[in-house]
Order: sequence, then C-alpha cells, then structure tokens
Amino acid sequence: MRLSGNIERIIDSMPSLPITVAKITEITKNPSSTPADLNKVITLDPVLTAKVLKLVNSAYYGISNGVTSIVKAIILLGLNTIKNLAVSTAILGTMKTKGKTSTLDMDGFWRHCLAVGVTSRSIAVKIGIDPKLREEFFIAGMLHDIGKIVINEHFAAQYLQIIQSADSKRVSLWKEESAVFDIDHAGTGKLIADKWSLTQSLAEVISFHHRPLESSQENRTLVTAVAAADMFCVENATGFAGNRTPDILSDESWKTLGLIEEDLFGIEETINEEIMKASIFLTMGG
Ligand SMILES: [Fe+2]
Ligand SMILES: [Fe+2]
Repeated sequence: MRLSGNIERIIDSMPSLPITVAKITEITKNPSSTPADLNKVITLDPVLTAKVLKLVNSAYYGISNGVTSIVKAIILLGLNTIKNLAVSTAILGTMKTKGKTSTLDMDGFWRHCLAVGVTSRSIAVKIGIDPKLREEFFIAGMLHDIGKIVINEHFAAQYLQIIQSADSKRVSLWKEESAVFDIDHAGTGKLIADKWSLTQSLAEVISFHHRPLESSQENRTLVTAVAAADMFCVENATGFAGNRTPDILSDESWKTLGLIEEDLFGIEETINEEIMKASIFLTMGG
C-alpha cells in the first residue's frame, strides 16, 4: 500500500510550531548568542515562560531553591537545556492528541517515550556526556517515535493489523510497516522533523533510531544511545508503543557507546522513579 504521498499531505497540513521556537533554535545555533538573547525571546511568550519555569522547578531537575526567572534557569541548566525544554514543550503541545480514534493506547505510548528518554539520559551519564548536553539525550529519547502518532491517528485500522502481524512474526514493528506501506514511522517522523525544521541531531534520532549505523559521525553517539535505550525498554516492556520485538544492537554500536549490554542492567531499578519525575513533561501540552 502506497502511503507516503498521503502522509506527506497530512504532515504538510499540520500546524507549524510557534514562531518563538524557530527564534530559539536560531539563537542556539549561533555560537555568539548569550543567555540574555535567549531570555529575551522566551520571555516574550508568557505561556512558554511559565511552562519552562514549571519544568525547571519540578522534581525532575531537583533544584531546591525556587527558580523564578528564565535568566536564572539558563545559568543553572545551560542554554542548550532551556532551548530543549522550550522546543519539546512546543512539540508535545502540538503532538499530544485529543482523543481521536487510534490503535495505540496513548498512555502506554507516552510511557514508552518517557522510558526511552530517561534511559537515554542514564546512558549519557554512564558514558560521561557533559551534564549540559545530557538533556538532549532525554528529549531525543522522548521524541524518537513521534512518527507513529501520525500513522496511528490516520491509519488506525491498518496499523492494528501491522502491529499484530509484526508481533506474530516476531519482527520489529518498523520492518512490518515498511513491508506493508512504503514508509515506516522513522520516515514519517523525518517528514515531521523537516516540516518543523528540528535540529539535525533530533532529525537523525527520529530517522535512524532503528538503523543507528546510518547516522552521521557527529550524531552517532546520541542516535546509538537512543537505539540502545529503545531496545532496553522494549525488552523490559516499559510502556508500549506497538513493538514487542526489540532491534538487537550491533557490536559496532555497543563499541560506539563503549558499553556492553550488562552495563544497562542497573538502570532498571531507578527507571520507574525517573519516569514519574519526567512525566511532568506530558502535562506541558496545550
Ligand atoms: Fe521506533
Ligand atoms: Fe521506540
């Protein structure tokens, strides 16, 4: 079944991200930007300002003194983290669907996404990623399967069949999507990333999290960490986003991370608590 044309049209007609988000991305791409520049753009949008402050003051960050200004938040958490918060808040606001008929249970879906987010961040910690860059691992993990939302909402009946046949054949869901349609959820997600001009690193995670060896050298570690986290969360059935058959990570990918699979075992113990703290992100929609 040829779907890619339909999906392109659907994504074309999706709302744009708020203009503030484009400005934020612009600022963080410019190496000479200062915290004051970012502060100026965010504070022009009072709703966004309130959301970012709510996240910064949540148990997720565990900063004990109340943070009441964006400038202070940028100093404490870094330009990059605040940018990620603003962008992901806008994306979740647009993607969190409003109870349309669908095949996937969205609570299970978002639990999978949060689980992959917190696991990716734990991997970042394990492999010694700079604290200011770790948040990107969480956000990338949380958004990796965003393409599924579109397929799930617009092709619910076909998706149910694909999920069931992937399950009975014990193949990873994206392979069955590709076999039945001419596009999988990673390709669908890539169209969304293009439409919204998401950063190259996010676009690569969304496109290549099932084929990390195809990502660029520059983003290979991030993409591979999300791929490992996805495998781990599918194996442990933390949440459910339609796939029960994990993609096995290649030796080369483990080498990229400098880890072996056993290194992830300890993560299981803390994941539920981490998911609970991170679930505040899901209240950011609307
Ligand atoms: Fe996926
Ligand atoms: Fe996934």
